[in-house]
Amino acid sequence: MNNQDKVKQLIDLRVQAKLGGGQKRIDKQREKGKLTARERIELLLDEGSFEEFDMFVTHRCTSFDMEESKFLGDGVVTGYGTIDGRLVYVFSQDFTVFGGSLSETFALKICKVMDAAMKVGAPVIGINDSGGARIQEGVTSLAGYAEIFQRNIMASGVIPQISAIFGPCAGGAVYSPALTDFIVMSKNTSYMFVTGPKVVKTVTGEIVTDEQLGGATVHGSKSGVTHFVAEDEQEGILLIRKLLSYLPQNNLEEAPLVACDDPIDRLEDALNEIIPDNPNKPYDVKDIIHSIVDNNEFMEVHRYYAPNIIIGFARFNGTSVGIVANQPAYLAGVLDINASRKAARFVRFCDAFNIPIVTLEDVPGFLPGTAQEYGGIIVHGAKLLFAYGEATVPKITIILRKAYGGAYCVMSSKHLRGDINYAWPTAEIAVMGPKGAIEILKSKEIKSIADPSEQAAFIAKSEEEYKNEFANPYNAARFGYIDDVIEPRNTRFRIIRALQALATKKDVNPPKKHSNLPL
Ligand code: HXC
Repeated sequence: MNNQDKVKQLIDLRVQAKLGGGQKRIDKQREKGKLTARERIELLLDEGSFEEFDMFVTHRCTSFDMEESKFLGDGVVTGYGTIDGRLVYVFSQDFTVFGGSLSETFALKICKVMDAAMKVGAPVIGINDSGGARIQEGVTSLAGYAEIFQRNIMASGVIPQISAIFGPCAGGAVYSPALTDFIVMSKNTSYMFVTGPKVVKTVTGEIVTDEQLGGATVHGSKSGVTHFVAEDEQEGILLIRKLLSYLPQNNLEEAPLVACDDPIDRLEDALNEIIPDNPNKPYDVKDIIHSIVDNNEFMEVHRYYAPNIIIGFARFNGTSVGIVANQPAYLAGVLDINASRKAARFVRFCDAFNIPIVTLEDVPGFLPGTAQEYGGIIVHGAKLLFAYGEATVPKITIILRKAYGGAYCVMSSKHLRGDINYAWPTAEIAVMGPKGAIEILKSKEIKSIADPSEQAAFIAKSEEEYKNEFANPYNAARFGYIDDVIEPRNTRFRIIRALQALATKKDVNPPKKHSNLPL
């Protein structure tokens, strides 16, 4: 073979590798409305930036006549490239090769990019489309998964890890994504389950479809496994690009500062009137978020899961922040198990990656009742408390309306090292709401009044007295628990000034192996 032939051989091999499991299987992939592993990478990365590793890797399995069927690359495309000019490492599983199932060599390829990303401190994005462990390989495949899991764990809190789920993902294929920071699923074409519907039927007799068991809608709203639900793969990929724009490359860096053309002192007059006079009337906290952040842009995370708390990313004067806000428009913004878990994980992510946290508070307390108690609200609520108390990033809190009971303590209060705690004049800070308080404090007097209308009048008067005492921010301000009572329309400016003042904040926790978060 002369040198020219050698070059031609390389080109031919590349063509062959790019065909994955062959044209027939690629056509099948397209019929299902799915992109190929390479198309996904092309869409994700800046044009022409992809550098591929290990295109010529093949599996080493000899059972089940596997030596007869080998595909260059062995079912996963790996390498690095850029997104908006910033380095990222990627792997994209190729369903056309043994259903994207994971072999020993497939795992080694993924481990290689993960190790490289850790060395240089760059995010890893995994695009998953896989039938799980490659059945023909047995334990070497399982070992491969465990090697990936270990790397996921070591990388957690060091580099951002993002998973796209763009196909049926079963078994081990769901556990690595579960260890990463964010999951994006596409509607109708992606599924995540530990075992598929066939196994479910055999083991439990339950009959379910893929979609019912582990579709994007289910994981976006019921389980909360996925953080983002995209209409299709293209939208999912755009979401990942956008998400990365809010994040630093690693835990030693800060998120990129973006040029801001939105005036920092923009007044939002509508905010002075947004809180209804009736404390039981809801409003949409997202209206407040949109009106105070740069260019009204808010990237919501977990939109369909536990909507009684809102979390997501935004910017103030170009600085990336994580926003946590109670949502009075859903279950009165109460803290329940799911809301606590959702927000706790987000607070910890922001803290791990040096992203300041802005908390907007209007919370009537923790949700009472047997369903919550049996589900362990004590432990789950403690997660949020723990996360806020442990976080050392700048923490700015604005109490908009209710800050009742334990929820006052939890939501980034001064006592949990909240740095700057403001309240709107509409704030109500108390151990509980007027109704519950009067029932407890005045129960004997209430019972002693026989006439129902006299009793009602007594209750109304007592509640009014209680409100006059506690339904304001000045009690807390007197103790210095609130740094200032601010005019609602000026909230954007006050947050920006607070972020500026906290830009050089340094706070540390005592040395320890790790904390014992109430899991
Ligand atoms: C080897 C596999 C495979 C696997 C699929 N294929 N899964 N090959 N190992 N795990 C192959 C098929 O043989 C087929 O090959 C091709 O991929 C496409 O598969 P289909 O079944 O035709 O596709 P589809 O109907 O779309 O169904 C996709 C699927 C289903 C839902 C993923 O294939 C499936 O249920 N696979 C098994 C899932 C599973 O239980 N995996 C093991 C998990 S245990 P051809 O040659 O026809 O193209 C595990 C342990 C780790 O992962 C645990 C860690 C904690």
